[in-house]
Amino acid sequence: MRFTIAVDGPAAAGKGTIGRALAERFGFAHLDTGLLYRAVGAKGGDPVAAARGLTPEDLCRSDLRSLAAGDAASRVAALPEVRAALVAFQRDFARRAGGAVLDGRDIGTVICPDAEVKLFVTASPEARARRRWLETGGDESQVLAEVCARDARDMNRADAPLKPADDAQLLDTTDLSIDAAIDRAAKLVAARLPR
Ligand code: C5P
Repeated sequence: MRFTIAVDGPAAAGKGTIGRALAERFGFAHLDTGLLYRAVGAKGGDPVAAARGLTPEDLCRSDLRSLAAGDAASRVAALPEVRAALVAFQRDFARRAGGAVLDGRDIGTVICPDAEVKLFVTASPEARARRRWLETGGDESQVLAEVCARDARDMNRADAPLKPADDAQLLDTTDLSIDAAIDRAAKLVAARLPR
């Protein structure tokens, strides 16, 4: 069976957690596409060459989850040649047999416009900054500023900006526990699975 779940949304909205949980619940493969851009940003040098030559080992670096890596990722992600170099890998992953969940910013709009399920996961900037701050520590107001700056860059870039697909289902996790958010997402997926 081929079945693609696209999970898009801004930083720290819960996409990754929801995407992983959906993959586990339905037995699908999961791809965190942000990791691709983080790995390109972390490689340094020419980002287009880094994207074209990305290897599985590049995705295993231990420093890819930091705020700095997220910031570098959103800068290289604004380059159309970088995005173009990563399209085929993501599309192949999405159509693998057995089902796939991809989380990112442009999965439902650009990478998989025909995905069977499209979720757009959001939460207030304050809620998202608090979650990120609980992971990273540091100054909470600084984390909020960085989250907002990254959102602005992702939403305002010309190529594949962050926005919900017209047919995406919105899931606001501001006041939801992780379990409640996963449950709601799973119900939306279950309603679309072939019987
Ligand atoms: O999801 P994550 O925070 O790891 O993504 C890091 C950055 O990579 C985002 O801020 C965004 O600029 C970029 N990205 C993207 N398209 C995706 C996934 C991530 O532009 N599909």
